[in-house]
Amino acid sequence: MDSKQFISTIKTHTEVSPDYFLLSMELPSEVKRPKPGQFFMIKVGRNNDPLLRRPLSIHRLISADTVQILYRVRGKGTRVLSKRVLGERLDILGPLGKGFEIPSQINEAILVAGGVGIAPLFPLAEELKRAGKSIKLFIGGKNREDILCEDDFRSLGLEIYISTEDGSYGKGGLVTDILEDYIQTPDSRLQTQMYACGPKLMLKVVSEIARFYSLPCYVSLEERMACGIGACLGCAVKTRVQSSELRVKGKNSRLRTPDSRLYRLVCKDGPVFNAEEIDWDG
Ligand SMILES: Cc1cc2nc3c(=O)[nH]c(=O)nc-3n(C[C@H](O)[C@H](O)[C@H](O)COP(=O)(O)OP(=O)(O)OC[C@H]3O[C@@H](n4cnc5c(N)ncnc54)[C@H](O)[C@@H]3O)c2cc1C
Ligand code: FES
Repeated sequence: MDSKQFISTIKTHTEVSPDYFLLSMELPSEVKRPKPGQFFMIKVGRNNDPLLRRPLSIHRLISADTVQILYRVRGKGTRVLSKRVLGERLDILGPLGKGFEIPSQINEAILVAGGVGIAPLFPLAEELKRAGKSIKLFIGGKNREDILCEDDFRSLGLEIYISTEDGSYGKGGLVTDILEDYIQTPDSRLQTQMYACGPKLMLKVVSEIARFYSLPCYVSLEERMACGIGACLGCAVKTRVQSSELRVKGKNSRLRTPDSRLYRLVCKDGPVFNAEEIDWDG
């Protein structure tokens, strides 16, 4: 079985920046090793409140039996999770979804992160490094507190470019501005693949930049999720892809929009998509 429900014990749980937490937990040997870009659905509370699990990306595989997630407190669920302590047990479903691909022909990877969108990019950077690719990382946030894991990425030997909207760290402005400055001076020897994770508006601009400069780009999308396994249709996103249909396993139902564009499920078909597939105005 690719994904399964399991119980995991919290090993460490630390606030690494205001409202950002790093949680490491046990990964039982019977659970499939997660791939970069995959996620877990985590029951965050000690009881059934909140009822629904919350989706959180795999941030690091610390060792064969320890996995880490990095999350930001957004609302009730993540606040409840932030109160869980060492030794407590979490009920988890996963690993879920389709992760990042690394095309063999590329020799450069450009990673773009907005805020906590950095979370799934660390295991991706590790895998790109193992595959011998040159890696540039662009990190953006509102302020210095939103810039996470810089030292971890530096230890991998990446070239890092940072921006903050208030100018408190790195270059002032948006991460998409420093990204475009870099891409405007291309090295023709490079075959580049872009990867991005962050707020939807940032992903939209990154995908526009990628399209303008004819660079392939993968984006990791975030949608609110109820089931995480393709059963509730809660995470459907509009795509430009006309050729496939969304089928709900076991129910044989299909979802079509009036203009016959088709939807895909972030939990099952993603969360990683080719940026060209997404209808960003949908
Ligand atoms: C595949 C996937 C991987 C994710 N990985 C991470 C991660 O590694 N670290 C991390 O911090 N967050 C991640 N998220 C986002 C995280 O799931 C949400 O922040 C969390 O579920 C919010 O729950 P809550 O109860 O705290 O907030 P809620 O009370 O449910 O919502 C608070 C606010 O956040 C917004 N929100 C809630 N869920 C989402 C969502 N899924 N996408 C966008 N906005 C949302 C709501 O609209 C609301 O404004 C991921 C989401 C997905 C779909
Ligand atoms: S979260 Fe239920 S179908 Fe994706």
